[in-house]
Amino acid sequence: SAATLGGYSDFMSKEIAEQPEAIERLLKGRLGEHGIEMDELDMTDEDLARIDRIYIVACGTSYHVGLIAKTMIEHWAKVFVSVEYASEFNYSDVLVTDHTLCVIVTQSGETADTLSAARRLKGMGCKVFAITNVLGSSAARESDGTLYIQAGPEVAVASTKAYTAQMVAGALLALRLALACGQMTRAEVEKVFRELEKVPDAIREVFRRSWQDKQAVPLFRDAQSALYLGRGTSSTTAYEGALKMKEIAYVHAEAYPAGEMKHGPIALIQPGFPVLAVVPADHVHDKTVSNIMESKARGARIVAVATDGDEQVANLADHVLWVPQMDEYVVPIVAVVHLQMLARYVALAKGLDVDKPRNLAKSVTVE
Ligand code: G6P
Repeated sequence: SAATLGGYSDFMSKEIAEQPEAIERLLKGRLGEHGIEMDELDMTDEDLARIDRIYIVACGTSYHVGLIAKTMIEHWAKVFVSVEYASEFNYSDVLVTDHTLCVIVTQSGETADTLSAARRLKGMGCKVFAITNVLGSSAARESDGTLYIQAGPEVAVASTKAYTAQMVAGALLALRLALACGQMTRAEVEKVFRELEKVPDAIREVFRRSWQDKQAVPLFRDAQSALYLGRGTSSTTAYEGALKMKEIAYVHAEAYPAGEMKHGPIALIQPGFPVLAVVPADHVHDKTVSNIMESKARGARIVAVATDGDEQVANLADHVLWVPQMDEYVVPIVAVVHLQMLARYVALAKGLDVDKPRNLAKSVTVE
C-alpha cells in the first residue's frame, strides 16, 4: 500500500516517529526456548558454527548498519567480519574460504552495486543472507535467506527507520551466531535481548527531548562545515549523523574516529567551529572526553550526545543531546535518533525539502 503522510508534515518526521513500533515488530517472537528464532537464515547450528569469515556488503546508510553489525558479531560471536562498500568490493580482490558467509544489507533490496556484490559472492560458492525492508525485492529473490525488517515503506530519501531496524536485525543475527558458535549461553543471549527490548521506549524518550536538538540548530544552520567525532560503535553513529547532515541539510559534516582527529581534522578547528561528539557511557568514554577538551581548547562549539547524568560532559559542552542509560552495544540504535532529528531541524531551518534532497535518489539502481 502506498505510504501517506497521515498528519505528519513530511515523510522523514513520520518515519523517525515509526521507529519504536518497527523495532517492536521485529523483536516480537524472536526469543525462543532455545535462543534466537531466525528460520530465515535456513542454516543449521552446525553450518553456522563452521562460518569462519563474514563479508557484509552494503551502500550508504546500510553500510553503517554493517559497521555496527561487525562490532556485535565480533564481540558476541567471535567471528571475523569485513564490511565493504559494494561499489569498491566489486572491483577488488575477494578472499573467500569454504565457510564464508555473505550478508547484504539493503533497505530497498534494489541497489545495483549491492546486488552485484551478492551475485559475485554467490558465484564463489558463498551463502548469501539479505537484510532488507522490501518484500520480494531483488535482494530477497536472489539470496539464500532473507530477514525482512518489516519497517514499512520508507519514502524519505534519507534513511531513518530502516537504519535502526536493520541494526536490530544485525543484533539478532549476531546473537543467533553467538549461540550456534558456543560463544554465548541462552541466558547471556536473553540478557542482551532484554536490552534490545528497551530500545523502543528509549527512542520514545529521545523524542520527548527533541527540544534539545532544536536548541543546537543555530550552531549548524550557518556553518560551512562541522566535525562529528566518536569512538568504537559511536564512531559509526558519528558517520551516520554526519551523513544525515550532509544529505538533507547540505552542511559539510565530516565524521572521524575521535582518536584520529589529531592526524588531520583538528587543523580545521578555530573559534566557533561546530564539533559534535558522540560520547555515551561506555568503555571508551574518557578517551572521547579528552578529544572534546582538545576541541574546546581551540575554540570549538561542542554539541555532545551523552548519557543521562554525565556531569563531566555537561560541563564541557554547549549543548547536550541526552540519551537514557543503555547497554553500550545497544546505545547506537538510540543515540542516532537525536542526530536524525538534528539534521532534520537544521534542514527545516534552512527552508529545505527534507524528503527530497537535491541530487540524491532513494535507491541507486545503476552501478
Ligand atoms: C541511497 C539512499 C540512502 C541509502 C542507500 C543504500 O543512497 O539515498 O538512504 O542508504 O541508497 O540503499 P539501500 O536500499 O541499498 O539500503
